[in-house]
Amino acid sequence: MTDTLIVHGGSPLNGRIRLRGAKNFVSKAMVASLLGHTPSRLRNVPAIRDVGVVTGLLELHGVSVHDQGEDGLLLDPSEVERAHSADIDAHAGTSRIPILLCGPLLHRLGEAFIPDLGGCRIGDRPINYHLESLRRFGAVVDKLPGGGIRITAPDGLRGTKIELEYPSVGATEQVLLTAVRAEGVTELKNSAIEPEILDLIAVLQKMGAIISVDTDRVIRIEGVDRLEGYDHYALTDRIEAASWACAALATKGDVFLEGATQPEMMTFLNVFRKVGGRFDVRQDGIRFWHPGGDLSSIVLETDVHPGFMTDWQQPLVVALTQASGLSIVHETVYEQRFGFTDALREMGATIQVYRECLGGAPCRFGQRNFLHSAVVSGPSKLHSAEITVPDLRGGFSHLIAALAAEGTSKVHGIGLIDRGYEHFGDKLAALGAMVERG
Ligand code: EPU
Repeated sequence: MTDTLIVHGGSPLNGRIRLRGAKNFVSKAMVASLLGHTPSRLRNVPAIRDVGVVTGLLELHGVSVHDQGEDGLLLDPSEVERAHSADIDAHAGTSRIPILLCGPLLHRLGEAFIPDLGGCRIGDRPINYHLESLRRFGAVVDKLPGGGIRITAPDGLRGTKIELEYPSVGATEQVLLTAVRAEGVTELKNSAIEPEILDLIAVLQKMGAIISVDTDRVIRIEGVDRLEGYDHYALTDRIEAASWACAALATKGDVFLEGATQPEMMTFLNVFRKVGGRFDVRQDGIRFWHPGGDLSSIVLETDVHPGFMTDWQQPLVVALTQASGLSIVHETVYEQRFGFTDALREMGATIQVYRECLGGAPCRFGQRNFLHSAVVSGPSKLHSAEITVPDLRGGFSHLIAALAAEGTSKVHGIGLIDRGYEHFGDKLAALGAMVERG
């Protein structure tokens, strides 16, 4: 199959699709299975490339992973073993998940090898919080001359007090996956509290962990000697939900997203309403539609939960190109997440990006030469173009722009979108989009 999608744009997306489990939860829950003495079952797993990558990583470490269709994944960690660093390196590809294997592998095997990490090119994406936290537990981190790092725990892992400089999702998960089996109590301050993290805590609790989440971003974990497998139904992907909702808004469409849930999407729903979109929350999902007439411009800042997610930003920006007036978007989570706007400009959007913080939220990127604020002036008539997907979320935004534009666009590199959007070609077809593989 080619890596190009030909999109005949200009018609609204209408129809119903089913959303699946959250990419940014499922991969971590799969890693958690390494901590159990008995097999785990994870349900509502999306068919996305990231799941394949984590499956391969677990298999390299002796975990057997069986896809049992509607019954989900069965993960059996009874024969965990060391993997060859070269194999891990070759297999990890662009994934950032290997870093989260550290805690579980240290508990099971006493050592872990982490290759140089990939992931979307949306900023520097350092792992200093991860390594610092692991050291606090008593791990020893050695940088390897040929690339990657080796982590050992000669004296075992002990509970500790950690305060994150920033509420990082990955670092919070690192601490959780390490502390549950460390000796004694761990206190994590300034933790991330994204719904995907709370679902991971639910999984760990099912396995036998003792974890409390206090107000003010403090998580306490009492280490236990043994954890069992779990049976869990993954929460819905709220990024997939917001992406399709924005596609409906930008194309003047009307979509029903089966499985979308309100509590995890409150902040998005407020913004969607302020822009002029309509939604209707039902028991089995949420309907999103463009009611006709003009959309309104807004001022928005991305933030950690419960703020407006950084991953909702790119699809929303495409919808904002269709709103009347000037919208301002201040990105405070990643320093370089406006690269995707180059293609939108090529398609006729008026978007300027700035180094200044155009907003009041405390931001780590001011005065540091990062183009992390955008001003979108609309409405703009988008026209077709030949574009190349830059990263996962930016790529889906390009797709939305091509759907909203008049004429036929060629979108190259759509394989990147498979990383996080299940069967998006089929879903586009179900919503009446005129697309074909080029
Ligand atoms: N950071 C550091 N040092 C660290 C870790 C993070 O400085 O050791 C910084 C990052 O550079 C970034 C900020 O902290 O500026 C937040 O990063 P975080 O650790 O929260 O992100 P992550 O765990 O690497 C996950 C998702 C991202 C999502 C972010 C924020 C996964 C696999 N990835 O990344 O998802 O944007 O949380 O919610 O869970 C995506 O799905 O497209 C995606 C990029």
